[in-house]
Amino acid sequence: MNFLITAGPTREFLDPIRYISNRSSGKMGHALAMAAREVSRRVTLVTGPTALTPPRGVQCVAVTTAQDMAEAVFARYEMADVVIMAAAVCDFRPRTAAKRKIKKQRFSGRLDLVPTTDILLELGKRKRSQTLVGFAAETDNLERNAVAKMRRKHLDLIVANDPSAFDGDTNTVTLVSLDGGIERLPEMLKLEVAREIVKRAIAIHA
Ligand code: CTP
Repeated sequence: MNFLITAGPTREFLDPIRYISNRSSGKMGHALAMAAREVSRRVTLVTGPTALTPPRGVQCVAVTTAQDMAEAVFARYEMADVVIMAAAVCDFRPRTAAKRKIKKQRFSGRLDLVPTTDILLELGKRKRSQTLVGFAAETDNLERNAVAKMRRKHLDLIVANDPSAFDGDTNTVTLVSLDGGIERLPEMLKLEVAREIVKRAIAIHA
């Protein structure tokens, strides 16, 4: 089985020095790559900037922006059996990235942002036989929002969690599947959570 997994944040540049990003550490995505590697030799990890070392035996593709991540994922989508989008892709980027540093005295104090490509939404539209797993970071109405996100993006499974998990070694997730099943897992190490997700994705794909 061929796994395509994403991890980490993306960075969206204002100028060569400054960017907007988010709190993602990449730990969940790296744990997923490790769990997938335990059951398959064909694992690709597309990762935004993190402080982590990619798991052994996993093909790693390092990217920076949402656009880089979109291109890396789309190029590998057709070959994939299971795709797990654990990356915290920035939803917006500055409309323009200045080629030179914006001097503080010239900065208006306003950022003009435009949406990035919703990679997972696009994967859902192009889906053939792939099993698609998404994440949903929600502070409110976790399950209801997760179900809506799963339908909108044509996913097979969605992993809903509270953003408090962002930099920790553990995660408390709710798994929502297309058949309406809702499973609340107890707080576990991210590698243990990853093994549960991989196990379910394989069962869905079979
Ligand atoms: N995602 C993506 N491309 C984006 C934004 C998000 O592929 N530009 C993916 C994430 O990797 C995650 C899922 O979509 O698997 C849900 O991300 P989330 O930020 O929770 O949801 P959004 O779709 O951005 O919706 P909202 O901000 O309204 O919650």
